[in-house]
Amino acid sequence: MDALKIRGNGPLTGIIDISGSKNATLPIMAATILAAGESRLGRVPDLADVRTLQRVLAHLGIDIKQDGKEITLDATNITEQEAPYDLVRTMRASILVLGPLLARFGRARVSLPGGCAIGARPIDQHLKGLKKLGAEIKLEHGYVEATADKLVGAEIVFDMPTVGGTEHLMIAASLAEGTTVLRNAAREPEIVDLAVVLKKMGVEIEGEGTERITIVGQKELKPFVHDVVADRIEFGTFLIAGAMIGESLTLRGGVIEHQTALLDKIKQSGAKVRVNEETQEITVSRANKLEPVNIKTAPYPGFPTDMQAQMMTLLCQAEGTSVITETIFENRFMHVAELGRLGAKIRVDGGKAIVNGGDKLSGTTVMATDLRASASLILAALVADGETIVRRIYHLDRGYEHIEDKLRSVGACIERFKEE
Ligand code: EPU
Repeated sequence: MDALKIRGNGPLTGIIDISGSKNATLPIMAATILAAGESRLGRVPDLADVRTLQRVLAHLGIDIKQDGKEITLDATNITEQEAPYDLVRTMRASILVLGPLLARFGRARVSLPGGCAIGARPIDQHLKGLKKLGAEIKLEHGYVEATADKLVGAEIVFDMPTVGGTEHLMIAASLAEGTTVLRNAAREPEIVDLAVVLKKMGVEIEGEGTERITIVGQKELKPFVHDVVADRIEFGTFLIAGAMIGESLTLRGGVIEHQTALLDKIKQSGAKVRVNEETQEITVSRANKLEPVNIKTAPYPGFPTDMQAQMMTLLCQAEGTSVITETIFENRFMHVAELGRLGAKIRVDGGKAIVNGGDKLSGTTVMATDLRASASLILAALVADGETIVRRIYHLDRGYEHIEDKLRSVGACIERFKEE
């Protein structure tokens, strides 16, 4: 198993380029199932989750070729409508192949997904929506089996703004007869990027990025060419690195508008932020003294749950007490115990974490427990005294493209090694 060895060694300076978004790439790849022909997707990040979905799609019969950051996916000859447990278990987003298979072939069978253990993460909203479109759904032997003669547009009101649920229903509704209206829809930038792709395929969509999305389904769709939007969570993670130990750390290729909630909090903490709207670059430098800040996670455009762990590490450096409230996932404080091993003083009380910051962290061996938790540990290691070993970084490889190379290029002392 791979691990990272990190030595806290002073400021990060230079430029980091932001990669394409994992969470936009996955639903867009699933959408290729909708149309025969060859779609081309550019700025695809080199990540374990992307490779997992490639394996699922290849199993279905999609012909996939990769040329650097570009992949071509030819969905002309889909021969299989079933995604088995062994392929699906490591990644929850695999469930997104259910809707498009059902919409195009009238039948699909997909293993119930696994993924990060940050909460119960049911898929009831996905299934409720597909039923509304006319699907018959059976749950048996750990599989979801969906059948329908045809899908017909409907009005679907989500119980909560679910990102995956909204994406799944947008994709399925694209081949349904008539109009689908999604209410209480998620508004994340990844949903807008998916809408751009579905429009290129011939679907009429309005309202993406708002709570009400209208999708006019089509009889047949065509393949597309598209470059994936920038990864706002990778961007945010490096912004926090800059706020903690940056000295003119510049981040290039991200979308600044996606960072509004995070930048507000980073500025409140006292870190120095320079935004260049024209080039879409942000330069961050640490402050002499960081101030405590309270944060509460919320669906976009609120403070992202995917940035909560990294923000917690920053607040460990702020002198005073900060309160972090997690409202999206019920078990997303697993990094607290590991940060505690590095010397952080954090107490969890239900959905709140109370951070008493200001103490110097000191390096030791820690274990990554989920994707964003891994990033919070790396950030902590970068400011800790001495050496930190971060184990179980396979979580990290699911969602951060070549993070150690990127950090090393701006001065971090970080290397990957194989553990016995
Ligand atoms: N939920 C339900 N029923 C459903 C769907 C969701 O109860 O059918 C609940 C979830 O349990 C959760 C809340 O609704 O409490 C929001 O979940 P959502 O469906 O929005 O999350 P997701 O689609 O499973 C995506 C990202 C996550 C990110 C969340 C929230 C992808 C592939 N994953 O997950 O990203 O945390 O939205 O923004 O897009 C990550 O990248 O590290 C990651 C976990």
